Amino acid sequence: MANSRALFFAFVALIAVGWGAVVVVVVDANFASETSCNWGGANCKIDGDNLQFILNKWSGAGIVTKQQFIFGSIEMQIKLVPRDSAGTVTTYYTSSTGNKHNEVDFEFLGNVSGQPYTIHTNIFVGGVGNREEQFRPWFDPTDGYHTYTIFWNPSMILWSIDGTPIRVFKNRNSKGIPFPLSQPMKGYTSLWNADDWATQGGRIKTNWSHAPFIANYKSFQQRVCAYAGPNSARQCAAPSAANWYTAPQYKTLSRSQIDQLNSVRNKYMIYNYCKDTNRFNGKMAPECSYPPY
Ligand SMILES: *[C@@H]1O[C@H](CO)[C@@H](O)[C@H](O)[C@H]1NC(C)=O
Ligand SMILES: *[C@@H]1O[C@H](CO)[C@@H](O)[C@H](O)[C@H]1NC(C)=O
Repeated sequence: MANSRALFFAFVALIAVGWGAVVVVVVDANFASETSCNWGGANCKIDGDNLQFILNKWSGAGIVTKQQFIFGSIEMQIKLVPRDSAGTVTTYYTSSTGNKHNEVDFEFLGNVSGQPYTIHTNIFVGGVGNREEQFRPWFDPTDGYHTYTIFWNPSMILWSIDGTPIRVFKNRNSKGIPFPLSQPMKGYTSLWNADDWATQGGRIKTNWSHAPFIANYKSFQQRVCAYAGPNSARQCAAPSAANWYTAPQYKTLSRSQIDQLNSVRNKYMIYNYCKDTNRFNGKMAPECSYPPY
């Protein structure tokens, strides 16, 4: 597995060198080489391609990728806190910095034993979020590892689980809808206590007698265009073999991806900001007038 991945990345690197025009770093990522703990001290355990977060009364834990990037995909396998995870939140997101930052979020809100997690998603563009969509998992996210992917290219941002697209945010810049194109991002994940709001609206608190709460991660893959200064936005957006995410098949979703997306959204979506007319007083975000793909 590790070997075949290394080979694959060597292959991509060769293409990159062959193409010559653009300097792209495609790395065979693992947690140890590509990320560092930015929170939690001993509660943050990186061991090669495995990562473990521990949440106890004193601290949670978090990591951040070392590389800033523009476009590409960030993927990891996560086994969420099992059994009573009420009050805990596991995050997985990409973000730029500054007060007009962009951010693409997955958050997993825990629950009491036997009750389902909530998969929460959001996107901030130019510092503005308020674009929450929530889903029930159609699988048990604690029974084993599941793959979560954030994909970003000049045409769209795509959230997928085990290869199934659940949400897409398209570049509709030409319609006056903002889309992240130039700010470099990093990838983050963390486990923390959010019992003031996370579970059943904050009514259910973290039961510390069930601590430590543990989330496990593996198979981190970062296939991104490394940020190397102000020219990167243009270089990383340029269609080329090295910029793999610019290939024609990534410009739009395929028919079967649209079918999968619609099916998940019909069956498992539990909140959609585009439907929450009360919250926004009927003034819905402009992207809400378009189909969700
Ligand atoms: C927890 O379970 C309850 C009852 O099934 C459900 O209403 C709630 O949405 C679930 N998730 C969270 C995060 O509270
Ligand atoms: C917390 O967990 C303990 C051990 O399972 C249980 O006895 C207790 O009732 C739980 N507390 C609450 C508030 O649910």
